[in-house]
Amino acid sequence: MTEKLLELDSVTKRFGRVVIAEDLSLTVSAGDTVGIVGPNGAGKTSLFGLISGDLSPDAGAVTFGGKAVTRLDAAARCRLGIGRTYQVPRPFADMTVFENVLVAAQQGGGLRRKASYAAAAESLERTGMAGEANLPASRLGLLQRKRLEIARALSTKPRLLLLDEVAGGLTDPEVTVLVDIVRGINAEGVAVIWIEHVVRALTSFVTRLTCLYGGQFVGDGAPAEVLASPRVREIYLGGDLNTSAVEEVLVEENTVLEQEDQGK
Ligand SMILES: Nc1ncnc2c1ncn2[C@@H]1O[C@H](COP(=O)(O)OP(=O)(O)OP(=O)(O)O)[C@@H](O)[C@H]1O
Ligand SMILES: [Mg+2]
Repeated sequence: MTEKLLELDSVTKRFGRVVIAEDLSLTVSAGDTVGIVGPNGAGKTSLFGLISGDLSPDAGAVTFGGKAVTRLDAAARCRLGIGRTYQVPRPFADMTVFENVLVAAQQGGGLRRKASYAAAAESLERTGMAGEANLPASRLGLLQRKRLEIARALSTKPRLLLLDEVAGGLTDPEVTVLVDIVRGINAEGVAVIWIEHVVRALTSFVTRLTCLYGGQFVGDGAPAEVLASPRVREIYLGGDLNTSAVEEVLVEENTVLEQEDQGK
């Protein structure tokens, strides 16, 4: 598929001296699967903010589906088809799982009545959460909270799904299940950009991988090649180590992050 879906054109974003994006450009086509890695604090989540509309760039333009969205807020971009998950899931704890996805379908997706109920039910089916529909969200374990996070994004009917560390803290079999869920979503034509420290999840799914560092994308291509590139090794390890060592560092970072998330 070659239809351009998302374009970042020379986007720059800084928080004081912290550089998130420096003249950064990216094109994602309909149905693409793109993985993003990068050290803690590199600006990956902030990059999602720039795409989803939670953050405004200092310079540059964001285009989605051929429409300039740089000045649109997150609600407007969501209605155009940009759905995102959050690194730390924060469902409405006192609501049921179904109510959480219904709110997303109605408030995020702009769907009404039957259409919103149908989207909510379908998103729970597709994420394997239908059996938990009537549970309060506060009762969910980590895997279920991650699935609910995807279900909430899905019920807004996205054309582009942004996943921010949804595999973090999960066991290997749980990661496999999650990748299958995301693969199913992508198979229906939804493009996916996935930020993840659990590299196995990415390498088993994405066709493109890039590393965000210093406000720049380092490498953009086949996952194995990017992970093995000297520059990416250097970023993670100071150079001269193999791909699996890079993966180990990424997984270690993720474990620390998850422990932090649990403590929040
Ligand atoms: N709203 C904000 N105001 C000021 N600084 C911010 C803001 N949001 C993020 N930052 C800073 O920007 C940098 C990038 O943060 P971000 O969360 O985007 O990184 P990340 O790559 O997602 O990291 P991690 O892998 O730990 O999730 C950090 O130094 C962070 O403290
Ligand atoms: Mg992050």
